[in-house]
Amino acid sequence: MLSVAVLISGTGSNLRALLEAADDPGYPARIVAVGADRDASGLAHAAAFDIPSFVVPFRDYASREEWAEQLGHRLDEIQPDLIVLSGLMRLLPASLVARWQPRIINTHPAYLPEFPGAHGVRDALAAGVAQTGASVIVVDDGVDTGPILAQERIPVLPGDTEDILHERIKPVERRLLIEVVRRIATGDIDLSAPPARP
Ligand code: GAR
Repeated sequence: MLSVAVLISGTGSNLRALLEAADDPGYPARIVAVGADRDASGLAHAAAFDIPSFVVPFRDYASREEWAEQLGHRLDEIQPDLIVLSGLMRLLPASLVARWQPRIINTHPAYLPEFPGAHGVRDALAAGVAQTGASVIVVDDGVDTGPILAQERIPVLPGDTEDILHERIKPVERRLLIEVVRRIATGDIDLSAPPARP
């Protein structure tokens, strides 16, 4: 059984979907902890599923490195098989990535390598593209530059706002994330030999 720690910053709707999937005894992964960089509302989902949660508040630390060192201590205590960044809106420093690579994956609301970074949905809308997408990638020490594990196209429709488009992307992200975690757990995806970027 694959043990998974999930890190969030926000509402945690993708976390919720993963918790629901993992609640099925037939699903080959278990969520063992949920962490956040702030008092994220999504932590309530962990409580609802009796999953332990923790907060390492970014603003309590003088630097990203000091914050990440404390986050790293928490993860070392938990020793998950896999870390899922599910809306964690912080860059992890290279030292923390190196400690866990390749066992950290990230969901992103765009069709990478298009529109990386913190505003994937906004940037796609601003670019006026006809379609964007959702991606699940392995985290490396760049910004959304790691190997792509799954992705899918989503059309941009007339009248889309950032919120409307994001809410249409998220269900696709959830489906991709649940499937990728399942495939990692069953060995169908080998994170030590992920596919190269096209
Ligand atoms: C998701 O769309 C996730 O891909 C995105 O934040 C959202 C979190 O939603 N992450 C990024 O943009 C990272 N660059 P949620 O809190 O409702 O799951």
